[in-house]
Amino acid sequence: MNITPQQIRQLPESCTLVIFGATGDLTHRKLIPALYNLAVEGALPAGLNVVGFARREKSNEEFRDELKITTQKFSRSPLNEEIWNRFAQSISYHRSEFHDLNGYCRLVEQLGKNDVLSKSTENRLFYLAVAPDQVETILHNLKESGLNFPREGSWARVIIEKPFGVDLKTAHHLNKLVHGVFPEKETYRIDHYLGKETAQNIMVLRFANSIFESLWNSKHIHHVQITAAEPLGVEGRAGYYDKAGALRDMVQNHLLQLLTLMAMEPPMSMSADAIRDEKVKVLKSLRPLKGKDVFKNVVRAQYDEGTINGQALSAYRSEQGVAPQSTTESYVALQIAIDNWRWAGVPFFVRAGKRMPHAGTEIAITFNAVPPVLFNTLGHTLDQNVLVIRIQPNEGISLGMSAKTPGSTLRIEPVKMNFCYGTSFQKQNPEAYERLLLDAMSGDATLFARSDEVEAAWAFVDGIEEAWLQESDDLCFYKSGTSGPDKADDLISSCGASWRKL
Ligand code: BG6
Repeated sequence: MNITPQQIRQLPESCTLVIFGATGDLTHRKLIPALYNLAVEGALPAGLNVVGFARREKSNEEFRDELKITTQKFSRSPLNEEIWNRFAQSISYHRSEFHDLNGYCRLVEQLGKNDVLSKSTENRLFYLAVAPDQVETILHNLKESGLNFPREGSWARVIIEKPFGVDLKTAHHLNKLVHGVFPEKETYRIDHYLGKETAQNIMVLRFANSIFESLWNSKHIHHVQITAAEPLGVEGRAGYYDKAGALRDMVQNHLLQLLTLMAMEPPMSMSADAIRDEKVKVLKSLRPLKGKDVFKNVVRAQYDEGTINGQALSAYRSEQGVAPQSTTESYVALQIAIDNWRWAGVPFFVRAGKRMPHAGTEIAITFNAVPPVLFNTLGHTLDQNVLVIRIQPNEGISLGMSAKTPGSTLRIEPVKMNFCYGTSFQKQNPEAYERLLLDAMSGDATLFARSDEVEAAWAFVDGIEEAWLQESDDLCFYKSGTSGPDKADDLISSCGASWRKL
């Protein structure tokens, strides 16, 4: 059965979405295509206004034309002229410098006029799709112009893109700033991995099926691997990436989020806070990695020259904008311990890498081996059962098992039970930003990171970054197109396992 968004949720109330950084990449590649696809599904609130706020001079028409071209390119569904034209009517452009308070005061007037014209409410959603150093200025001016303070009965919310700080101190400072302008319940920190359909399914898999939960603990699980591999390199983002590296870019947010969903206790309810309370508990139970422990449990590496699909690729240090002696990691692998009742003794191996041979994000849960009697004998070691949650691509879940091959002799081979979203539901998965935008309009913060969650994740990551700052000779290198350094293999082999093949 196909379930459309309308069947499972009511359309959000009408509102105005103001996008700061409206001429940037994120708006063109993700936000507008996501809104367009919601328009196709009939899932947008009636009377929605979208206002692009940016510095360049542009008319509404020019802005819409540019967005149409990029939506044609990046939208998951083909552009339908009629739907686009209707949707585009709701888009307007507002030129202003971010630091110019007058621009915000003019925005107040423009929004008031739009509200009257489209019989819309005074609900406001501010999307900060800007570089982190602009966030403070924008928040300040939203407050000064009173845009953060809606008329009674209306709401004002803010969506903030990653990176949310660069360490615990900066994240804490940013949280304080935000809270001076918007209450926590109106603050939506984006982690687009949480909007991925497969990430949302982790809780359903665990808590809507009775067979997994009783096995979901240290008695039955040998180890867990969480991988995010991508063939892409730094892709013109060196200015940001060379300061961040894989640990801050992928692990602090996306992969620790996946880990919390995989490891958390059942929440008391499906409310945003009940779920986030449980996720925070996991983050706070991570055994801190500091000093010498970092070098035993974390491997960092950088890509060298190599080839992917026959294409010769340059080394990270030769990428434009990267410092020639940069020690920034484009790959990181960690062994993480969760010191709580459920997970004591189960190693969680987490790795993220760029310039890997293939793209693949997954959580793989390896169960304990069967006892060494009957079939699992010295001469014939059986594969352990592995439950794989494929976040992307080929979204789905598989369970590896042992089965007897047909015939009169007893031969046992590994086989797979496989669920694929594509074949089971015959429906394209929505893009993460579709779900997240709709949730923010509806006031549902479940799939957004709360302030304490972000800070707990930084507290864990900071210990590693600090150790790396003291010592840099642990950095290793791997050829582009290979699946990381040998040292990462040693890390996982210490628990008698090996990385899953990319
Ligand atoms: C972003 C990182 O948050 O996630 C990028 O900054 C990374 O470096 C990207 O490539 C991966 O996202 P996805 O959805 O393509 O897996």
